Amino acid sequence: MGLCTAAKKFSRRGKYVVLIGLLLSVLAWIATFSGETDKTISFNFDPTLTLVRQDKLRDKLNSWTRAPGHWNLSTEKDECPKESPLLVGASKLSFESSLNLKDVESKNKGVAKGAYEPADCKARQSVAILIPHRNREKHLLYLLHHLHPFLQRQQLHYAIYVIHQAGDAIFNRAKLLNVGYLEAIKDFSWECFILHDVDLVPENDRNLYICDQQPKHLVVGRNVTGYKLRYKGYFGGVTAMTKDQFLKVNGFSNNYWGWGGEDDDLRVRVELQKMTIVRPPADVARYTMVFHKRDSGNQINKNRMRLLGQTTKMWRNDGLNSCSYKIVSVERMPLYVNITVDIGQPQS
Ligand SMILES: *[C@@H]1O[C@H](CO)[C@@H](O)[C@H](O)[C@H]1NC(C)=O
Ligand SMILES: *[C@@H]1O[C@H](CO)[C@@H](O)[C@H](O)[C@H]1NC(C)=O
Repeated sequence: MGLCTAAKKFSRRGKYVVLIGLLLSVLAWIATFSGETDKTISFNFDPTLTLVRQDKLRDKLNSWTRAPGHWNLSTEKDECPKESPLLVGASKLSFESSLNLKDVESKNKGVAKGAYEPADCKARQSVAILIPHRNREKHLLYLLHHLHPFLQRQQLHYAIYVIHQAGDAIFNRAKLLNVGYLEAIKDFSWECFILHDVDLVPENDRNLYICDQQPKHLVVGRNVTGYKLRYKGYFGGVTAMTKDQFLKVNGFSNNYWGWGGEDDDLRVRVELQKMTIVRPPADVARYTMVFHKRDSGNQINKNRMRLLGQTTKMWRNDGLNSCSYKIVSVERMPLYVNITVDIGQPQS
């Protein structure tokens, strides 16, 4: 009997030990899973719930791999929203004769060496603004005054390049734009190029300075033409092309000296590549043209019709791949990169 009781006592104690052991391991198991609710594959029978939790896990993983130290802060920022919350739409432009460069600089503290990027989100595109220029200091000032805040409201990463033709030879807008492109890509892998006349100021910040699937013409109307397209197929003034689109057409012709024709030539190049020109709605693609007389050194190009007749034949060998020039200076000013270039003169 004594032995029997002892054996019974032992087996009862044994049961308790096994039971307590089991309880502890269940507790430990629960603790493991409640600590990391993301690893719930075995618990979940609701597929939507599983998706949400796996997303959470992915976020967690991302936040670890993107932790400071591994990556720069700028790569950590979220992409800027599809539509910038800073846009104001149409705004009243002012052209005060007392405006000076120091005023514009002090209003654009976030711009350094002509470039800017949003502080708290990652811009959707990196855009180089190319402005051909000579002897139009006041126009340039008005444009910088309006364009910098305009581009910042659009939350873009951008830089402004002013390409200044050295010397007194007749002006060549198209070749200066080719030079602007070739110099800008040395600085940064810009995705989008805005080819911008110095005397056109955008009136509505919903006219987005970003590139599209197709080459984009941004000037549907200007105040001096009653906001009508100048003519069907007009592709001048302000135009947006991606790097690929611009390379595909071999940029502009280098042979248009004087006023007119080079923009039609670019349109022909675009059409030869089976691309289609797109435009924003007329109510946003509006510009104010700052008044000026025709500059000396930019006479009407009498050859332009003859040149246009040769575009189909010439475009492959006349453009970015044949653009020869000498850089005179590159100055990194606070509000723009000032490229002064000797582009030669017409061969006659
Ligand atoms: C991080 O940013 C600094 C300064 O902007 C730069 O010099 C450095 O190359 C960047 N590092 C990486 C990994 O991008
Ligand atoms: C267009 O706007 C500019 C700047 O305000 C002004 O100088 C010019 O006279 C305007 N032209 C027309 C036709 O309204």
